[in-house]
Amino acid sequence: MTNVTIEINGKMRNASVPPETTLLELLRDHLNLTGAKLGCDVGDCGACTVIVDGNLVNACLMLAGQVDGRAVLTIEGLATRDRLHPIQKAFEDHASLQCGFCGPGIILSAKALLDENSNPTVQEIKDALSGNLCRCTGYTKMIEAIQEAARVLRAETAERTTPAPAE
Ligand code: FES
Ligand code: FES
Repeated sequence: MTNVTIEINGKMRNASVPPETTLLELLRDHLNLTGAKLGCDVGDCGACTVIVDGNLVNACLMLAGQVDGRAVLTIEGLATRDRLHPIQKAFEDHASLQCGFCGPGIILSAKALLDENSNPTVQEIKDALSGNLCRCTGYTKMIEAIQEAARVLRAETAERTTPAPAE
């Protein structure tokens, strides 16, 4: 068995799993985090996308043992009890909600993009979503939602970093 200690969505978790267990199996079958989905299982569809130490990964291609000591963000870690993440809110507002299979991975790909690039171009957004496949809707509303989320996040950052006027 392989012992794994990881930070998931800000909380430390331990598991003991067979060495061939993938990160996706660890999340879904051992830690009850079912937001990341099993689609193709070969790294093509992006349904299993999660963020490990700030980088997007296909959890179906990574072994659980490879994340020992690392920090993983899954879709379950984005919203708080009271508030959707601005990306989730923008997807809702732009009627660009995707199905449960592709949606979590798409939103995490958008998050990884906006963490690195606060004002992406349409082409940069398209590139960021290129590993997340959806064959049933267009990508236009998703792109609009990500642009809107970028605007909201930039405004929140500006508000946090602007000093209060002197009295
Ligand atoms: Fe991992 Fe498709 S299930 S990329
Ligand atoms: Fe999710 Fe198309 S695969 S909406």
